[in-house]
Amino acid sequence: MLSMNGYHLGIMSLTDHKIGQDFIIRIAKADDVPAVVAMDEAVTGLAKPDYWQDIFDRYGGRRRGRYFLVADHEGTMVGFIIGEVRAWEFGSPPCGWVFTLSVDDKLRLGGIGTALFQAVCDAFRKYGVTKVRTTVARDNDLVMSFFRSQGMMASSFLQLEIDVAS
Ligand SMILES: CC(C)(COP(=O)(O)OP(=O)(O)OC[C@H]1O[C@@H](n2cnc3c(N)ncnc32)[C@H](O)[C@@H]1OP(=O)(O)O)[C@@H](O)C(=O)NCCC(=O)NCCS
Repeated sequence: MLSMNGYHLGIMSLTDHKIGQDFIIRIAKADDVPAVVAMDEAVTGLAKPDYWQDIFDRYGGRRRGRYFLVADHEGTMVGFIIGEVRAWEFGSPPCGWVFTLSVDDKLRLGGIGTALFQAVCDAFRKYGVTKVRTTVARDNDLVMSFFRSQGMMASSFLQLEIDVAS
């Protein structure tokens, strides 16, 4: 289990007793971008350096309401999460949105994903929002299991889509 004692965003030090590793959750730096590109490519099979550079430019560093956090084990990026506060979309009062989360596949099931999610929820809470949302592909059982384990449930909003290709 993770010890969440002494938790402070940016200087949090956690001891993961399951895999016996120390890691911290910190704000992403420009140097993290290549590792984020590689981790995303490992999951999706597609390298998107321009996309991730743009995400870093918009979410990296210290920004109010935008959070790009990484799990760092002895200087190696082992996971990341990105979220932001969005307001009044579709009539919703301000709420936190998590739109990306990934953990090094060699270190999964060790609590890193939970630590990242709790860290971004803490940041949302400090901002002042009380609701956090995300979107999960219907067939992504792994990510669904993870978010369910964090207590997330079906939302009062429903996504609709249409194919507009001619
Ligand atoms: C989802 C993900 C971030 C979870 O990270 P993690 O560090 O392994 O998560 P944790 O160790 O904190 O797991 C917390 C809980 O999630 C659930 N969970 C995690 N992986 C699971 C799996 N493979 N099968 C079933 N449940 C799982 C479990 O309930 C687990 O609790 P437990 O260990 O007490 O059983 C990681 O698997 C990942 O990066 N997956 C691919 C990323 C991806 O597809 N991202 C795209 C969407 S943004």
